Amino acid sequence: MHELYTALAEYYDAIYRRRVERVSQEIDFVEGLFREDAEREVRRILDLACGTGIPTLELARRGYHVTGLDLHEEMLTVARRKAEREGLSVEFIRGNALEIDFEEEFDAITMFFSSIMYFDDSTIQELFNSVKWALRPGGIFIADFPCWYYGGRDGPIVWDERKGDERLIITDWREIEPAFQKLHFKRLVQIVKPDGSVRAFMVDDELNIYTPREMRLLAEKHFRKVKIYGDLHELRPSDRRYWLVAVK
Ligand SMILES: C[S@@+](CC[C@H](N)C(=O)[O-])C[C@H]1O[C@@H](n2cnc3c(N)ncnc32)[C@H](O)[C@@H]1O
Repeated sequence: MHELYTALAEYYDAIYRRRVERVSQEIDFVEGLFREDAEREVRRILDLACGTGIPTLELARRGYHVTGLDLHEEMLTVARRKAEREGLSVEFIRGNALEIDFEEEFDAITMFFSSIMYFDDSTIQELFNSVKWALRPGGIFIADFPCWYYGGRDGPIVWDERKGDERLIITDWREIEPAFQKLHFKRLVQIVKPDGSVRAFMVDDELNIYTPREMRLLAEKHFRKVKIYGDLHELRPSDRRYWLVAVK
C-alpha cells in the first residue's frame, strides 16, 4: 500500500526532483507566515509526516530547531543520512502523527506536501487536537493540500527521472469518488538499470479530498484563528494548491 514510502523511499527525492528544487520558495513563504500570522516568535518546529526531510532540512538550514516525525522508518533513514551529510542537527522520530504526545513544546507545526490528505473526517479532528496540545499558545500550524479539481488529470500521466545511472519511468493516474471525496492515487514506477533490467513497483493510495472551505470549517473547531492561503500568496480563484494556517 505505501510502497512509495517503503520500497521506493530511496527513490522519493528523485521522483519529486521538481519539488526538491522549489522547496526553498515554499520555505520563504512559510517564514512569511511565521512573521505575519504566528503570535509568538518561531524557534522550535515539529514537521509532521516529514518523509525524507525535504522541507525539514530546509527549515534546519535556516537556523530553526526542528524535529521531524514520520510513520515510515525507510523515509527517516534517507532523512537522517541527508542531515548527517550536511552536518545539520535534526531529531527524526518514527511515529504516528495521531499519537504524538507533546505538551506545549513547539512554536510551529508543519505538515507539508498533501500529507494532511491521509486524514479523514474523523482522524483529521484527532490530528488537530494533538497539534493543538503540542503547540505553545500563539503557535502556528501550517499544512498544504491540492485542489482536487485542478490537481491533475485523471491520467495516465507518464514522465521520467534519473537516479544515478538508473532511469525511472513513472506513470500516474487517479480515480475520484466524488460522493465520498476520496482520491485513489495510483502510480507505477519502473526502475530501469543500465543493463536494461527492470524492477516495477505499484503504488495504490487512498487520500481524502478537502475544499478550502471545508478545511477552514474543520480547523475553526480547534483553533482560534484560521486562514486559507493560495499557492505561496493570498488565495486566488485559480489556485491549485492551498495552505491552511491555524493559530492556537
Ligand atoms: C507525500 S509524503 C510528504 C513528505 C514530506 N512532508 C515532504 O514534504 O516531502 C507523505 C508522508 O506522510 C507520512 N505519513 C502518512 N501518514 C502518517 C501518519 N499518520 N503519521 C506520520 N506520518 C505519516 C508518510 O510516511 C510520508 O512520508
